Amino acid sequence: MKYLIANWKANKNLTETNHWLDEFCQNKLTQIKNQVIICPPFPLIVPVYEKLKYFPNFSLGAQDISSFDIGSYTGEVCGKNLEEIIKYVIIGHSERRKYFQETETVLMKKTALALKYHFQPLYCIRNEKDAISEKVNFVVYEPTWAIGTGKNESLDQVLLLRKRLNLKPGIKFLYGGSVNEDNASLYLKSDKIDGLLIGGTSLNPKSFWEIIKQA
Ligand code: 13P
Repeated sequence: MKYLIANWKANKNLTETNHWLDEFCQNKLTQIKNQVIICPPFPLIVPVYEKLKYFPNFSLGAQDISSFDIGSYTGEVCGKNLEEIIKYVIIGHSERRKYFQETETVLMKKTALALKYHFQPLYCIRNEKDAISEKVNFVVYEPTWAIGTGKNESLDQVLLLRKRLNLKPGIKFLYGGSVNEDNASLYLKSDKIDGLLIGGTSLNPKSFWEIIKQA
C-alpha cells in the first residue's frame, strides 16, 4: 500500500479547485488500490471533501493545525474545526519551520492535538537531526534543497536517510521534494518507501493522476 499525498500549499481559489476536481474525477477513481490524500488550503478542504468522500481510497488532509485547542484564538484553525472532514495533517513542514518559526515545542503541541482528534500526523523532517515524536506513524523526508527546485534527492540517499533514522517497525516512511511523473516510479518501486508527498506536480490533476497510476 502506497500513500500519494498532494500538498497544494497556498495555491488555488474555489474556481480553480472545481476545475481541478472536474478534471481529476474523470479518471477511474474506484479502481485505485493505494491511498490518495489531498491537502488543500483550509477554505478549499470542504469542496474537495464533498466531491471525494464516497471514494474509500481518497481522504483529506490539512496542511496545518493550530497548536491551541478549541477556544478564543481568532484566526486559528484547530483540531475540532477539522474533525469529521480530515484524516491526516501535515506537521513540521520546512516551510512552516522557516516562515512561521515553528519550533520543536510547537510541533510537539500540534502533534498531540492532531492525535487527540484522531488525525494521523504526516510528520515532515528536513534531515536526521530533526526530532520525531514517538507517537507518529508517518515520517516524511523532505530535504529543503529539493523542494520546488526541480532537483529530487536520489533513491540511494533517501534510503540512507531512512536507515539512519532507525524507525520502529510499522512506521511509514515517505519522500517529498520535486517529485513528478518522470521520477515518481523511482521511489514507488522501493518497498522501503511507503509513499510520496507531492507539491507542485499535484496542482495539475493530469500529472498527479499519472503518479497515482504508477503506484
Ligand atoms: P515540490 O513537490 O513542489 O517540490 O514540494 C514538495 C513539498 O514541499 C511537499 O510538501
